[in-house]
Amino acid sequence: MKFFSKGLGSLGILLVLAFLLVACSNSETGSKDETEGTNDKKADKSSDEEVTIVYARNVDSTGAIDLVIEAFEKKFPNINVKYREMPADSGQTHDQYVTAFSAQSSEIDVFNADVIWPAEFGQADYALELDRFIERDNIDMDAYFPGTVASGKYNGKQWAMPNYTDAGVLYYRSDIVEEPPETWDELIEMAAKYQGEKGTEFGYIMQAAQYEGLICNAIEYIASYGGQIIDENNNVLADSPETVKAIKKMKEVVNSDFVPDNILNFKEVETETAYIEGNSVFARNWPYMQASAADEERSKIIGNSKITTLPSGSEGSSSSLGGWMAMINRYSEHPEEAWEFVKFLTGPEGQKITAIHGGRAPTLKALYDDPEVKEASALFANPEFKKVLENAVSRPVTPIYQEISDIMQIELSRALTGEQTPEEAAKNMQTKIEEAVND
Ligand code: GLC
Repeated sequence: MKFFSKGLGSLGILLVLAFLLVACSNSETGSKDETEGTNDKKADKSSDEEVTIVYARNVDSTGAIDLVIEAFEKKFPNINVKYREMPADSGQTHDQYVTAFSAQSSEIDVFNADVIWPAEFGQADYALELDRFIERDNIDMDAYFPGTVASGKYNGKQWAMPNYTDAGVLYYRSDIVEEPPETWDELIEMAAKYQGEKGTEFGYIMQAAQYEGLICNAIEYIASYGGQIIDENNNVLADSPETVKAIKKMKEVVNSDFVPDNILNFKEVETETAYIEGNSVFARNWPYMQASAADEERSKIIGNSKITTLPSGSEGSSSSLGGWMAMINRYSEHPEEAWEFVKFLTGPEGQKITAIHGGRAPTLKALYDDPEVKEASALFANPEFKKVLENAVSRPVTPIYQEISDIMQIELSRALTGEQTPEEAAKNMQTKIEEAVND
């Protein structure tokens, strides 16, 4: 079996090199009365009274979220869920949440949160601690991948429940390419060679716009060359020959003739559209695009798309760890009903629908043995994929993550556009992130 058969040995090394920053999770300082800010009238378990809750979530091009809501409402006829669509760009969704929650708005009850936010939102008191619900309802947190639970934990409290997990993967057109590339250099060679076949316009597409997705793509290059930005002891290690080498390789890809001229505007949506319309031989994206590529109504490449691990640098292949969590607004007027929805969404029923119809990787380990999930996705049926998830490189769990990301976004973009050299980008990230961390 070819999928994921390469590069995995070196992923062990990458685990050690992981882009980690350990939050001060033992301290209880700053803990709050758990009911503060919530409406005590609703503190009892959901009654028969009809309640409408608002679930905010960024655009779901697969439509799976509608099916989850439908299934939930069928099971809980007294709770209506109104879906509020947020922007596809994670950073824009973040900013809208911050505006709403810092004003203590109760408009949104449940919201999906990128794995990089629970620490910030927990510290800012935007969210409700979920521990009391988890204990009361005996939710088995060991049933989830430990890394996904850890992303929702900060200051000793669980702020978020893992909904689905993400790891960067390489999509390729199986009607054009027989054996996918093993290394970035092979990808560069093959993308140039096959560009134009079967009507493709591009050899390769990825996320290179100045936003959060750029960080995920960059981390993959950096880790694949043995670099890291911050280690587990909070040391900033951005200015290294490995990081410079990685930025150079990324720049080579972005400046090549086989990517779209506007690759610096590409996010997930642009990648998905171009790929499923049959315009690119290779694409880097998250697992959800498998559902889009198989969607009879939208895809022009049905049956002609496969997935493998991302290309290796000198130290192996590496994927960024992404994913989304479910959180409850601290000021929700319906915390019980909100929790009921979170429990369903992140429990086996909700995650199964999300995996089968949305192509999203479950955070519940057992779902990888579920026959229907395996049937729906060759990726999830492949045991090697679980290893990719377990070895994927995380972004730091810290309330100042956004600040770190903003620094990286600016410095990396300036390197990709040629406004500064990769060496300068690495130096600037070093100085500025150090300042942010030590502030
Ligand atoms: C995906 C990942 C998320 C990441 C984002 C970047 O949605 O799940 O963690 O931040 O992409 O665009």
